Amino acid sequence: MLRIGRLRFLDVPPVGQSRPVGTLVFIHGFPLNPSMWDPQLVFAGRGWRLIVPELRGFGPGDTAAGDPPTTSIDDYAGDTIDLLDQLHVESAVICGLSMGGYIVFSMFRHAPNYFRAMVLADTRSQGDTPEAVTGRKNMQQLVRDRGPAAVADALLPKLVGDTTRRERPAVVDQVRTQITGNSAESIAGALTALMTRPDSTPTLSTIRCPVQIIVGDEDAITPPPLSEQMHRDIPGSELTVIKGAGHMSNMEQPTLFNDTLARFLEHRV
Ligand code: MLT
Repeated sequence: MLRIGRLRFLDVPPVGQSRPVGTLVFIHGFPLNPSMWDPQLVFAGRGWRLIVPELRGFGPGDTAAGDPPTTSIDDYAGDTIDLLDQLHVESAVICGLSMGGYIVFSMFRHAPNYFRAMVLADTRSQGDTPEAVTGRKNMQQLVRDRGPAAVADALLPKLVGDTTRRERPAVVDQVRTQITGNSAESIAGALTALMTRPDSTPTLSTIRCPVQIIVGDEDAITPPPLSEQMHRDIPGSELTVIKGAGHMSNMEQPTLFNDTLARFLEHRV
């Protein structure tokens, strides 16, 4: 993990060529870390520079320990824009999964010029309902009382689809390891960020760059109808439903996810 001030990130150069065909930014979901994007690092072999931020407060152990957690999606978005500035990246294909998607919407509202294209995976445009806010508050209590392992137990059945649980249990273990690698404090802070995020639905019709929407057909947290609604509301967007994937579609069906992304990059970017 590289570090500039408070910003931590992976910066993977393209393999075998001095000039990248472009920059791909991957923003992780809640409550995970940049390792969730390991299956997508193969895009460096296709000529892309890859930037994977570790959101403030997240990530394993001592590197993250000094960071005060944030309680705002806009802070994560601001950090990511600062990172692009620090790395002299003027425009990129910016991809976020779930909370990563909420951050992408915030980045777009504040700095649309950075978007060469957008990828929205397993996410939604709406803010939290009152019931969802109650659920977040209960989870904050849980993490304060019993720590990240209890959060992993509560979330895993929803994060990962039935097919993965049955056929690829190693992926379930990887997700658990990432969740338990985060501090209770950063998880509690992110829960406040999630429950206070704005409704991004009015943003959808203002998006003018190429957009790929991806969702697992077994996604229980942001089910496919939410992606279908974003597809209708974002002019010219594409939608791909990945079979046999839950909410963590990029980890659960990496080949299908990467094929979809590669097709989008080739034909629309
Ligand atoms: C995520 O994967 O980032 C979370 O499920 C987002 C959410 O709970 O809204």
